[in-house]
Amino acid sequence: MSGLTKVAVLGAGTMGHGIAQVCATAGMAVAMRDLSEELLHKGIAGIEASLDRLARKGTLGAEDRDAARRRITITTDLDAAVADADLVIEAIPERMDLKLEIFAALGEKAPRHALLATNTSSLSVTEIAGASGDPGRVIGLHFFNPVPVMQLLEIVRGLSTSDATVDAAKAFAARIGKEPIVVKDVPGFATSRLGVILGCEAIRMLEAGVASAADIDKAMELGYRHPMGPRRLTALVGLAVRRAILEHLHREVGEQFRPPVLLRQMVRAGKLGRKSGEGFYRYD
Ligand code: 3HC
Repeated sequence: MSGLTKVAVLGAGTMGHGIAQVCATAGMAVAMRDLSEELLHKGIAGIEASLDRLARKGTLGAEDRDAARRRITITTDLDAAVADADLVIEAIPERMDLKLEIFAALGEKAPRHALLATNTSSLSVTEIAGASGDPGRVIGLHFFNPVPVMQLLEIVRGLSTSDATVDAAKAFAARIGKEPIVVKDVPGFATSRLGVILGCEAIRMLEAGVASAADIDKAMELGYRHPMGPRRLTALVGLAVRRAILEHLHREVGEQFRPPVLLRQMVRAGKLGRKSGEGFYRYD
């Protein structure tokens, strides 16, 4: 994958724009695609804020920041985004019906040589790959929020993913400066399966009145040295995203992943975490 020059990122949300940013910073031309100009401009604003933050810290020189920004183009046109891509990374909402639809389209529209990746947090890469008609070149590339900062890239190997695709994914990880792990395609992989259970248990503890929200977070931050407590982290990831992962793991793995009533209620009330400004804590 060292010859990788052009990446198409599908979705300009939190994960999509973070992925676009790290690819552009590593020198690749990036076409970021979403359904509306508004979503694309919001994504670009997120990228510019993050690049500025890195430049202010001196992690990125001003010229490199400007060059990275120039490498990113935006479009609502799927055909245009993937036309000459070497790698397509899908980061659309966590719904299997949407993923199957987009991978069926990619099977037809993306160049034959292109690697096709999904940033799914928990869904079956094998099932998504099947929709493309060419599952050997499909793989999971699971990134972590905030993408420019988090070191891990979880590479998920579907049942039909070829060895060449896994090797290319590892080379891509090296190119963008991420540390890869390669995991089997099981629900929730290695990361989400462990991560969401902690967040889920923290919400159950709040329901049971074990301690306040702030103290449950403090317990893990000071007692276990987690950078943020499980409920602050749930708010960073987004309550609706966490609920979707839990629902999937509940269906696929078992009762321990049943989404807590409090989480369901908060999502129904539109309290989605940092995105909506509220969810366990206020984010003003
Ligand atoms: N862009 C650029 N830089 C950023 C950034 C961003 N979006 N967010 C944070 N940073 C930088 C800061 O500038 C700072 O840089 P410095 O170390 O050079 O000073 C550094 O990251 C630390 O940031 P802060 O000082 O603002 O705050 P913290 O020390 O609290 O770190 C954090 C923030 C990196 C978010 C840290 O709290 C953390 O690691 N939290 C856990 C995050 C986590 O677990 N993510 C995974 C979620 S699960 C997931 O994403 C999977 C998906 O499938 C749902």
